Amino acid sequence: MFEMEVFISKSEQETLDWARAYANTLEAGDTVLLEGEMGAGKTVLAKGIIAGMGIPDEVTSPTYAYVNEYGGRVFHFDCYRIESEAQALGLGLFDYFDRGGICLIEWSERIRGLLPEHCKRVEIRRTDGGREILF
Ligand SMILES: Nc1ncnc2c1ncn2[C@@H]1O[C@H](COP(=O)(O)OP(=O)(O)OP(=O)(O)O)[C@@H](O)[C@H]1O
Ligand SMILES: [Mg+2]
Repeated sequence: MFEMEVFISKSEQETLDWARAYANTLEAGDTVLLEGEMGAGKTVLAKGIIAGMGIPDEVTSPTYAYVNEYGGRVFHFDCYRIESEAQALGLGLFDYFDRGGICLIEWSERIRGLLPEHCKRVEIRRTDGGREILF
């Protein structure tokens, strides 16, 4: 059984700050599934994690590119528009898992069969006052 911890975030900045600190718990080769509905804050989590890894690049949503690469060691996926695992394979998405970097994946359910066996998970949920982050 796994117990999830919960962090309550009242603003985008609090989510960024939490994610910067969370980045310190990650190791090269980790895959993190960023879960939550549209607009919940998955890309905000990715921004904080990438900043927390000491990479100064501006982070944009990879919706059209599917994967953006940061510092050669973080790969941020948005699989929302992936229609099949065959399409994902054809796009070479699977290859990123062997590059020894950290993969951050939004809408990972679209490529479930391609994911590494062991993944970390961070879920962000809208609540009345802000967001709940479960990790
Ligand atoms: N506490 C909070 N934490 C994170 N984001 C927040 C918070 N409060 C408000 N927001 C806002 O919610 C939005 C989250 O957008 P974001 O692009 O990160 O969502 P997403 O989960 O990546 O959506 P999509 O599935 O469309 O990619 C931003 O506009 C952000 O400013
Ligand atoms: Mg997003």
